[in-house]
Amino acid sequence: MPSNHGAIVRRVAISVAVLSAATALISGKPAQAPPSAGPKTAVQAFKNIQVLKDIPADQLIPSMQFIANSLGVECDFCHVEGAFDKDDKDEKKTARKMMTMMITINQENFEGKKEVSCNTCHRGSPHPQGIPIITAEAREPMNTEAMEHEHHDHDAQMPSADPVIDAYVKAVVGSDAIAKLKSASEKANMAMGPGKVAVEIYEEAPDRRVSIAHMPGGADSVTAYDGSEGWLSFPKRPLRIMNADEQYAAKLDAEFLLPSDPRKAFTELKSAKPDTIDGKEVNVVLGINPNQPPVKLYFDKESGLLVRMVRYANTPLGINPTQVDFADYRDQHGAKLPFQWTIARPFSRFTMKVDSVELNTPIDPSKFAKPAAPPPGPPAH
Ligand code: HEC
Ligand code: HEC
Repeated sequence: MPSNHGAIVRRVAISVAVLSAATALISGKPAQAPPSAGPKTAVQAFKNIQVLKDIPADQLIPSMQFIANSLGVECDFCHVEGAFDKDDKDEKKTARKMMTMMITINQENFEGKKEVSCNTCHRGSPHPQGIPIITAEAREPMNTEAMEHEHHDHDAQMPSADPVIDAYVKAVVGSDAIAKLKSASEKANMAMGPGKVAVEIYEEAPDRRVSIAHMPGGADSVTAYDGSEGWLSFPKRPLRIMNADEQYAAKLDAEFLLPSDPRKAFTELKSAKPDTIDGKEVNVVLGINPNQPPVKLYFDKESGLLVRMVRYANTPLGINPTQVDFADYRDQHGAKLPFQWTIARPFSRFTMKVDSVELNTPIDPSKFAKPAAPPPGPPAH
């Protein structure tokens, strides 16, 4: 049984290097030439796939994360570490039946759209609640008006998002200074269990970013995006190239951590219904790009600053959300940079705190170079 600290380290590891475990498996397998051109399917890349056969191989692990998020469990609920292909746990066999059930429900009732997912029933527990819950506090049942509001999130009648974006740009630097903001080198730290992990972050406008976490044990965990390709490495795991969704996420992080004009990051920005976060009113803007779920951006009404970004990654089984909360904006030579951000997923969250920043000092290009081999670390067993 892993200790609590072990569990925390593992979770943070998953958060930091998102899905490295995954590719250890993909790249650890002897290469098999796919029968036809095009990306590999799951059945071609993995050993024992019976239901998710035709999904792209690089969507298998995101799908697994979606399952874990929906049931509120970790991978070992269904798998034995190092033998993910084995069917030695009943939970894994049940999960396969559940996938088939879910696909059938959607086909027979929702024209094959992904309306019902694992989370529709499970909601963060392996045991769905069939009986309505009695809440601690009396709560109003949802009325038609409340539901109307939910559905009008994407309303085309909303006012233009431009004033909100202009206010943000003005708050972080003013459009003139944005052009002068070329790079940032940050020294940061991340709480992990009882200790702290030191992290170096290098950002270059518009969207190059690398973060290097010095993990306990001396090895480094790297998350990098060089403007066109992203990669992840974690001690004892082979280097992994990000899939398209992870790259999109990495690019977004890069754009917002070094302030820039969001109009450059999206093909369209639309206002949505205002909301509140921690009792403070926020303007909500949807950032839209082709073939990607909209990104929700929350701007504080008073300061104009971006306080939250929620992005979504499609998987064949459902959508995985990630929430990034930005805080502690500080003035740095006329620019405002967030000195703290928290990345939260359904069952994990970690907070990065910046200790010091240097703006516009040249960054050694080698920092953005993709390593050919896994960075040195203890050998894999
Ligand atoms: C609730 C059960 C469940 C959980 C939790 C789960 N998986 Fe799976 N996993 C499955 C099932 C079922 C399959 C087989 C799918 C199929 O046959 O189409 C599978 C297949 C896999 C495979 C393919 C193995 C092979 O070579 O055939 C990998 C790799 C994998 N899972 C990794 C993970 C990781 C990493 C996690 C944690 C993020 C995870 N799984 C969480 C049920 C689960
Ligand atoms: C229509 C509702 C529904 C959907 C959709 C659904 N499940 Fe379930 N699932 C259940 C119910 C009900 C149980 C039985 C719970 C119990 O034993 O308490 C269950 C049980 C399970 C169990 C066994 C839990 C245990 O402790 O043994 C697993 C694993 C599981 N589901 C995985 C999944 C996965 C993965 C998906 C999505 C592919 C999914 N389920 C989708 C309703 C659903």
